[in-house]
Amino acid sequence: MASSIEPIVSAHHAIPRYQQIARKLKQAISDGELVAGSRLPSSRTMALELGVARATVENAYGELVAQGWLERRGQAGTFVSPSVTSGANNPAFVTNQPQGAPLPFQMGLPALDAFPRVLWARIMGRRLRLQTRYDLVMPEANGESTLRQAITDYLRFSRSIDCQPEQVFITAGFQAAMRLVAHTLAKPGDGIWLEDPGYRYVRPVFAEAQMVLHAVPVDEEGMQIDYGISHFPDARFALLTPAHQSPLGVALSLTRRHQLLDWVAANQGWLIEDDYDSEFRYHGKPLPPIKSLDGPQRVIYAGTFSKSLFPALRVAWLVVPQQQVEAFSQHAHFLPCTAPLLIQQTIADFLREGHFWRHLKKMRLCYSERRVWLEHALAQQGFDVVPQAGGIQLVMRVNGDDRALVEKARKAGLAVQALSDWRMVSQGEGGILMSFTNLTSQAMAHQAAKQLRMAIS
Ligand SMILES: Cc1ncc(COP(=O)(O)O)c(C=O)c1O
Repeated sequence: MASSIEPIVSAHHAIPRYQQIARKLKQAISDGELVAGSRLPSSRTMALELGVARATVENAYGELVAQGWLERRGQAGTFVSPSVTSGANNPAFVTNQPQGAPLPFQMGLPALDAFPRVLWARIMGRRLRLQTRYDLVMPEANGESTLRQAITDYLRFSRSIDCQPEQVFITAGFQAAMRLVAHTLAKPGDGIWLEDPGYRYVRPVFAEAQMVLHAVPVDEEGMQIDYGISHFPDARFALLTPAHQSPLGVALSLTRRHQLLDWVAANQGWLIEDDYDSEFRYHGKPLPPIKSLDGPQRVIYAGTFSKSLFPALRVAWLVVPQQQVEAFSQHAHFLPCTAPLLIQQTIADFLREGHFWRHLKKMRLCYSERRVWLEHALAQQGFDVVPQAGGIQLVMRVNGDDRALVEKARKAGLAVQALSDWRMVSQGEGGILMSFTNLTSQAMAHQAAKQLRMAIS
C-alpha cells in the first residue's frame, strides 16, 4: 500500500503533502486495493515508509475520517470504513457516506471531528465506576442536582445570569423543555409569537398544547416587536432566539429587547428566550441575554448542549423565575427529565472540571476558521453570502425559487435547506441555509461550494 503512495508524496507538489496522501488513499479504496474494514498501518509506520512527518500522515488520516472514508477504532487503529464500497470515484461524502456521517453543509451539527471523545469516555467511565447503589433509584424529575449546580455556575460566569440550582430544569432536548413550559404556564387558546422565519420543529409542541401560533416577521434587528404588539396584542407568550436569530443570524436590538420586556411585564405574559448557540460569536461584543435584564421575572431561559457538546446527548435546560419553581416542579413530575443519569453526571463533571470552557474556546477558533473557508469558497463561486456575527450556519441570498434550487442540490447529495421552508406566512426573499461546522479543510469547503454551484446552475 505504502509503495503506491510513495511516488506522489513530494514537497514540491502544488498540493500539500497530507492531501497527496489522502488522495492516494481514496484512490486505493475506490480501486478496491484497500477494502472496507481493512486496517491501515499506524501513522508512525506509514510516516517512516513515506519519509514524511508523522503529523502529515495524521492529518491525512484525520481528513479521511472526517469525510467518512476511514474510521478510528481507538487503540485498535485506523480502518477503512465498513460501509465504503469500491468503484466510486465521486467524493466520499456524496456517495460513500458511513451511516450517520454528516453530509456537506448539514445543519444543526457541531464539528463532530473536534469533540474530545477520548476525554469524554474517560470521564463517563470514571463516573460509572463511582456510581453507588443509590444511583440506581429513580432520578430527580427536574434533573440531576450536580448538573443543575454546574449549569448555574456556568450561566453566572458566561452569560451573567444570576439564578439558583432549583430554578434549573433539565430536559431531554429543547422540545421537551418547551412542552414543560406549555404544560406549566399555558392554557388552550393562549397565543404565542413565533419568529417568521423561525425554528420550525418547535411549532408542533405549541400546537399540541392547543395554543395559537402567531407569525411575527423578522428584519435586520430581529423580531419586529411593534408588529407583534399591533397584530397580536393579547398573546401571552413570545419565543425568540435573540442572540442569533434562527435562521437569519441577526441579533435582537437593545431597543427591541426593552420593548419586549415592557410588553411581557405589562401583559403578564412570558418571554421564552432560546439561547441555543449563543456560545459562538466571532466578532463584535455580544449583547447579554435578556434573562440577565429580567427585572420583572417574566423570562424563561432555554439552553441546550446540542451545539456546544453534541446533539446525541439530548440534554437541554430551562431557567425559570423563582416564583415559578413550585409550578414547574409539580409539572415536572408528569413530564420528568428522561435524560439518563450517567449522561447528566458526565456533563456535570465535564463542566465542573473546566473542560467545557476549554472546548468552547477551541470550537470558537475552529468555527471562525471553517466559516471563513466557506464564505470565501462561496464568494469564489459567485454566491451572495449574508454577513453574520455568530452562530453555526450561513445564509446565502438567491434569486428565484429557493426550494427548487435546494431540491437540485439535495439530489447532488448536498444537505442545504431553503429559507422558504422556515417561513410561516412571510414572503421575503429566497435564501439557502447551510452549515460549515463539518467542513474540515479549506479544500473540502472549496469542493463543496463548487459542487453546489454545479448542482444549482
Ligand atoms: C433554534 C433552535 N433552538 C433549539 C435547538 C436545540 O434543540 P435540541 O436541544 O432539541 O437539540 C435547535 C437545534 O437545532 C435550534 O435550531
